[in-house]
Amino acid sequence: MNRFEFLKVAGVGAVACACGSLVSCGNKALDPAPSNIDFTLDLSQSANAALTVDGGSLTNQGILIVRISVGNFTAVYRSCTHEGTAVNYQSNKFVCPNHGATFDINGNVTKGPATSSLRKYNTQLTNNSLRVYS
Ligand code: FES
Repeated sequence: MNRFEFLKVAGVGAVACACGSLVSCGNKALDPAPSNIDFTLDLSQSANAALTVDGGSLTNQGILIVRISVGNFTAVYRSCTHEGTAVNYQSNKFVCPNHGATFDINGNVTKGPATSSLRKYNTQLTNNSLRVYS
């Protein structure tokens, strides 16, 4: 292979790599939010103690569950709808640490680049049992 042929092949490879990078940006395949969720957390168990204080949260089966206030919980699929990074709960909103998208406590987008809501799940508290379900 002479120098011209090498540069020709290397150039095609570089363009292919650049295109691959551009195509993957923003088009990462996201895991779909599960639709068959139904589990119950015993809030008297130490493993679930985070949910006994306002603003406390934990993740179970990819669902981020937060105690907003006494008897008031919210639960969303934790994967950001932009590129799938796990969101965190901070001061009455969900925040994606990757590109800064934010969502309200119901999972609705309040700041991009995400354009779709986080999937929200139902919660029901009965005594010390918190049910999270689709
Ligand atoms: S992954 Fe980009 S804002 Fe969440």
